[in-house]
Amino acid sequence: MINIKSPREVELISKSCRIVAESLQYIERFVEQGITLKELERLLAEFIVKKDAIPAFKGYRGYPAAVCISLNDEVVHGIPDERVLKEGDIVSIDIGVKKDGYFGDGAKTYGVGKISAEAERLMKVTESALYKGIDKACDGNRLYDISSTIQQSVESAGFSVVRELTGHGIGQKLHEEPIIPNFGMPGVGPRLKSGMVLAIEPMVNAGKYDVVTLSNGWTVKTKDGSISAHFEHTLVVGKDVAEILTVC
Ligand code: MF3
Ligand code: CO
Repeated sequence: MINIKSPREVELISKSCRIVAESLQYIERFVEQGITLKELERLLAEFIVKKDAIPAFKGYRGYPAAVCISLNDEVVHGIPDERVLKEGDIVSIDIGVKKDGYFGDGAKTYGVGKISAEAERLMKVTESALYKGIDKACDGNRLYDISSTIQQSVESAGFSVVRELTGHGIGQKLHEEPIIPNFGMPGVGPRLKSGMVLAIEPMVNAGKYDVVTLSNGWTVKTKDGSISAHFEHTLVVGKDVAEILTVC
């Protein structure tokens, strides 16, 4: 069952989403060589709490940090530690916020100083695949119209979409139905309806799509050591267009 949110619920979700977007905007100025991943986490946790909200990932299924920070060949669920950013790194920051009982979820990959042309292209392709997917999130389309559009736009650029991790519905829970793969066949899956709230999040590897999970139980890395990017928005399905909620 994919539940349809009332306008009041969408309003509450959008409040959490706005804080996610503000957090992603706020942290950008600190994503510079010399800062540690832990320091980025601390700044974000402080920012979110000041907004009277809760960093939603902390303690979720035992996840140990306030936000996920994934460096270079880490795909998602990286645990912030004492590693220091250096020029040329790419760093994906994934933020979940809970406020008044409703969740918002969003992510963005940042470059540190001057990055390689490949890293630049990977980030552009991933973000643009997200927006092309969002374009399909309207009334009457099928769920995998989103998935197939993302896959096509990524693969036509010569990159690959991670298969083992997906986007998801969101609301009073961080993860609700439906599961939203970033690959699939158009014209398949449940019909989308206005008021469904979705978190769409392509994870794109420069090399092959295979991933491995580290022994810490969380950090997902590319198997071939290639770099990976991740962009995510929470949105509400609309009649003709989706409304992106993770904006500020
Ligand atoms: N945005 C990710 C997701 O939706 C991160 C959540 S994982 C967590 O799965 F455990 F850290 F919360
Ligand atoms: Co998510």
